[in-house]
Amino acid sequence: MISKIVKIALLSTLALVVLGKGTLMYLQTQEQVPNNWAGTDTEKKLISEMVDAVIAKQQKEHQPGAVAKRDVHTKSHGTFNATFRIRQDIPESLKVGIFAKKGEYRAQVRFSNGAMSADSYDALPNVRGVAIKLHGVDGKKVLPGDENSSEHDFLLANDVVFFAPGVEDMHKLVNGEMGALIKQNPRVAALLADAVLKLVKNPLTTDYFSQVPYALGAEGNERLAVKYSLTGAASSLFSMPNLFDRHYLRHAAVASLNKGPVTMTFSIQVKQAGESIEDSSKPWTGAHIPVAELIFDKVEGMVAESAGEELSFNPVRALPEHEPLGWPGRVRKEVYPADFKWRSEKNLKN
Ligand code: HEM
Repeated sequence: MISKIVKIALLSTLALVVLGKGTLMYLQTQEQVPNNWAGTDTEKKLISEMVDAVIAKQQKEHQPGAVAKRDVHTKSHGTFNATFRIRQDIPESLKVGIFAKKGEYRAQVRFSNGAMSADSYDALPNVRGVAIKLHGVDGKKVLPGDENSSEHDFLLANDVVFFAPGVEDMHKLVNGEMGALIKQNPRVAALLADAVLKLVKNPLTTDYFSQVPYALGAEGNERLAVKYSLTGAASSLFSMPNLFDRHYLRHAAVASLNKGPVTMTFSIQVKQAGESIEDSSKPWTGAHIPVAELIFDKVEGMVAESAGEELSFNPVRALPEHEPLGWPGRVRKEVYPADFKWRSEKNLKN
């Protein structure tokens, strides 16, 4: 009897050691991901100049009486209603914030071209973006002035990496100093070409990536750094669109949704050791783990380009446990509200 008790005790101790080691290894894959909102003085100056450059460009290009639109991602391929359904098979370590909830959120989803006017040809090279706004998200948000918002936004585009490795590169790009940018960092030319040269049949069958990282977990704790992705529905579901149609992307998305609901998959990719938070021009290598389904409502009839014009999507409109990381977060915290304020005020006066 005594030997049986000793055996059980030994086995339990062994099990505890093994489990404990597992937990330790898991914790070691997490990092202190500090709140990085401060930034350096040099960076603050660059950010403030970027805000000024965006507003100056908007003022210069705006035609009296015209609707004041977004500085970039001006052209929409439709804003659609959807349900963001949290999956039940999420690994425990990813059940944080929004992904800890069992259930679903109502969402608005706006697809866009990154550059050029709202009337430009969709077949021309371009970045393709998607912005997802969840409704009914409880808890304070990071964005100053929007702390009590019940919305949480995700912004993604159709390349894995972000074309600007550092804040100086972005500063040159925003200031229209393309020559100086390529001279400063010749790699950016290839990154930009990669970003815009992808043939897109339909916004709903395209894969999108947050490109830049976000926290997963509360500040002050060990937490993960993650990126998001949104995988398109099987492209075999929909036929090849008419590429000569100037607005074929919106027409293709609406035609698909006229037939019935369409589902895309939202995933999380965890940063691995040695991968960068600040430089997002190099891809991360971790698996994309599905955490939610984005199910678009069926649409009746056509959807106008102007649908969703009045909305503001901002990656900083986020729960603190999902706060943006790295210099792009610090830039976007200032630039997006400035552009939104400019266009809202202009439209009120029209
Ligand atoms: C520091 C880098 C960036 C700057 C300066 C920047 C700038 C902007 C600006 C000014 C807007 C218009 C905001 C408005 O008026 O509401 C915008 C929208 C957008 N951006 Fe960025 N952006 C940056 C990085 C990114 C990244 C990394 C992504 C995604 C991977 C992204 C995706 C989008 C999308 C999808 C929209 C359209 C949102 C909508 O539909 O309203 N941006 N961006």
